[in-house]
Amino acid sequence: MVRYAAALVALAAGPLLAASAATECYKWKNVKIGGGGGFVDGIVFNPTASGIAYARTDIGGAYRLNADDTWTPMLDWVDSTNWNYMGVDAIATDPIDTNRVVMAVGLYTNEWDPNMGSILRSTDRGATWSATKLSFKVGGNMPGRGMGERLAIDPNLNSIIYFGARSGNGLWKSTDYGATWAKVTSFTSAGTFIPNPSDPSSYQHDIVGIAWVTFDSTSGSKGAATPRIFVGVADKSNSIWVSTNGGSSWSLVSGQPSQSYLPHKGVLSPSDKMLYITYSDGAGPYDGTLGAIWKYSITAGTWTDITPVTGSDLYYGFGGFAVDLKKPGTIMVAALNAWWPEGLIFRSTNSGSTWSRIWEWGNYPDRIKHFSIDSSLAPWLSDPADEVPEPLGWMMESMVIDPFNSDHWLYGTGATVYGGRDLTKWDTVGNITIKALADGIEETAILDLLSPPSQHVKLVSSVGDINGFIHDNLDTPRTSASQFHNPKFATTFSLGYAGNKPLNYVRVGGEAGNIALSTDGGVSWYSHPQSTSTTGSNGVVSYSANADTIVWSTTNIGVIRSTNSGSFTTISSVPANAYVAADRRDNTVFYALSGNKFYVSKNTGSTFTQTVTLGGSTGYKIVPNPGTTGDVWVSTDAGLFRSTNTGTSFTQVSGPTWAAHFDLGAPKTSGGYWSIAAMATIDGKKALYRSDDAGASWVQINDATMGFGTAESNRIAVDYSQYGRVFIGGGNGRGIFYGVPGTGCSGGTSTTTTRTTTTTTTTTSSRTTTTSSRTTTPSTTTSRTTTTPVTTTSRTTTTSSRTTTTTASGAQQTLYGQCGGIGWTGPTACVPPAACVVGNPYYSQCL
Ligand SMILES: *[C@@H]1O[C@H](CO)[C@@H](O)[C@H](O)[C@H]1NC(C)=O
Repeated sequence: MVRYAAALVALAAGPLLAASAATECYKWKNVKIGGGGGFVDGIVFNPTASGIAYARTDIGGAYRLNADDTWTPMLDWVDSTNWNYMGVDAIATDPIDTNRVVMAVGLYTNEWDPNMGSILRSTDRGATWSATKLSFKVGGNMPGRGMGERLAIDPNLNSIIYFGARSGNGLWKSTDYGATWAKVTSFTSAGTFIPNPSDPSSYQHDIVGIAWVTFDSTSGSKGAATPRIFVGVADKSNSIWVSTNGGSSWSLVSGQPSQSYLPHKGVLSPSDKMLYITYSDGAGPYDGTLGAIWKYSITAGTWTDITPVTGSDLYYGFGGFAVDLKKPGTIMVAALNAWWPEGLIFRSTNSGSTWSRIWEWGNYPDRIKHFSIDSSLAPWLSDPADEVPEPLGWMMESMVIDPFNSDHWLYGTGATVYGGRDLTKWDTVGNITIKALADGIEETAILDLLSPPSQHVKLVSSVGDINGFIHDNLDTPRTSASQFHNPKFATTFSLGYAGNKPLNYVRVGGEAGNIALSTDGGVSWYSHPQSTSTTGSNGVVSYSANADTIVWSTTNIGVIRSTNSGSFTTISSVPANAYVAADRRDNTVFYALSGNKFYVSKNTGSTFTQTVTLGGSTGYKIVPNPGTTGDVWVSTDAGLFRSTNTGTSFTQVSGPTWAAHFDLGAPKTSGGYWSIAAMATIDGKKALYRSDDAGASWVQINDATMGFGTAESNRIAVDYSQYGRVFIGGGNGRGIFYGVPGTGCSGGTSTTTTRTTTTTTTTTSSRTTTTSSRTTTPSTTTSRTTTTPVTTTSRTTTTSSRTTTTTASGAQQTLYGQCGGIGWTGPTACVPPAACVVGNPYYSQCL
């Protein structure tokens, strides 16, 4: 305590007073998992300009479609100050000025998101955006987010935009392209449906509100407001409204279905003036046990039930609905959730008089499938270990046919975007190829990242909903073989390795009791023998240096411990929900952080003792030096702290006044100290920083084009062998990024960004981006390629250089160093008494 206080005083006159940190040009791109990985709840095609389409997601922003079927993210500039923009509840593409696009953004309407929602608008197809803050919340990740679209641009007078709000806030209208908004007071229905008023979580308590707005383009003429507008409301009694006077007055559409369903989509077929509506008995996206499809003839004023199945065959609601604008009468619909045996899609070429199915039952349980799936762009989607190895999908709320190409279609699922370019073969040969078409969409939440000391792979990831992967290549999509299996968790929450035996991994995830071990660096796994008897769940897991003891801070039963795969016992001397970490060299030492209190165990986790109280109140992470015992770094909301005496005392590191996740990795100079990357506040600016001198100085390594969303949700790994390469990913639904210095800033050009934001309902903010044509500097890094072998023992603060770059006859590798594996060119013999032990095909180690 005394030493810590003295250190603070000493630093106060030093680097803390420096001007804002320097910046270093970094090029950022996604680590390719491929194929989305999350819910794509809305896809829209522009009806008047060929090739313009957008996809929106519930937590990971929105994307623009490219001609080569790839997608470009549009919201990577979102940072800590506007993180809730990543939830996109609605999107609309302008049929008149086809470069315009608008979105309604915001994550939650309950207390999880304190921010009001915003309308974002772009005049350059999403390259730059302006924002208008609303006076209420928008729920991009709330129930009913697949309904829609809630935003609609008048197809005859595009300055008019309607937005259907949640939470009882009603219908809103803009007459200036989305810059300012006013409530439509003549529209009195705000929706009554609440998903589950008795749910213990407030998440299910809110009014879903207005589900969609659909203009009848045929009712008006260019240059004047469209008179006829339909609005679908999440209300089980009276849901379909119409105005025939441009929104001055509204009435319920007469004769509408009286079933207790919610209207998910209202899609116009202009050629025959038909409004198609899909219904489900829940708001989605996970539910739906009954539903219907109706069509409303605008000219005749008649309703027709065109539901393709009845009786016990109908055990789901309906979601995505597509009209083929080039083939009048050709329509398609998706079951929202036909969980068993797999999703269902129907197609009709006669406006729903008759339907064909994408699969039908043969001799039960066989099915006749009129499709094959090509998941080559997202091979992890196809898993022979799953009951249905290549499912058509679930949460199928969005389905569209390209208005300019009847063969080209897309639909969103809970996991990806599927679609294809041979759709009319459904009607001719009766068989189509469905292709994973989410290339460029990386929509996962990341919960842990590790650049392994073994370097048998570049990266190991813990991923929400899709478990986690070993990344032997950063730029090729993951296969199911590179996904964690046996057990295959839904979500992996935490991942740890043993410092002296770095191919020994532990991971926790899935449901209660799910803990798994690997002895080959995550290539193969087995369940911890006690995994079914412990009731622990999630949290943070750590592995002692020699891989004999696990200390696991669960989220439900405190901190528990298992030695030699024995039963878990509670460690009562460390608070529940503490962050835990193992020393990388001394098997007896563990560290823990609870709030600002630091704890050390020197008896392999049996008991912990508090050593110091650090600054701040929230503790984030502990990173022990990967090579040296007793050297340990800690982040809290007061900054970054370092101990070199096994946590007995700490010194505050200069620069950060707040720090969340961080990591230590390859040093800048051979034999130098680890470089550090941290999400931190330095000189008042919250950003991603790197230090190459143990925290004496820092450079900012992200720019205004790469915001990484909410800062504290990001996980960070610094590459163990390639200097400067940093991995980052978090809860912002954009998967994992990696950045490298000196090869050009994001996008390959330097970018100057100015952004001003105001926060009242009527004023707007603008974000303009100018791109200069500065030539990118080619990488000058030649000596530090990823294939450069690295020994574990050489990475200490004081001693030996990072040798072993050449294969000398008779050369011997030191203890813990690599001594073999695919691509290895270094020594294959070990300094006695260590012996070379094969860990996995990629890595052998001197042990
Ligand atoms: C459709 O094509 C796939 C792939 O060739 C094939 O497996 C399937 O049996 C075909 N379906 C029908 C009904 O012929």
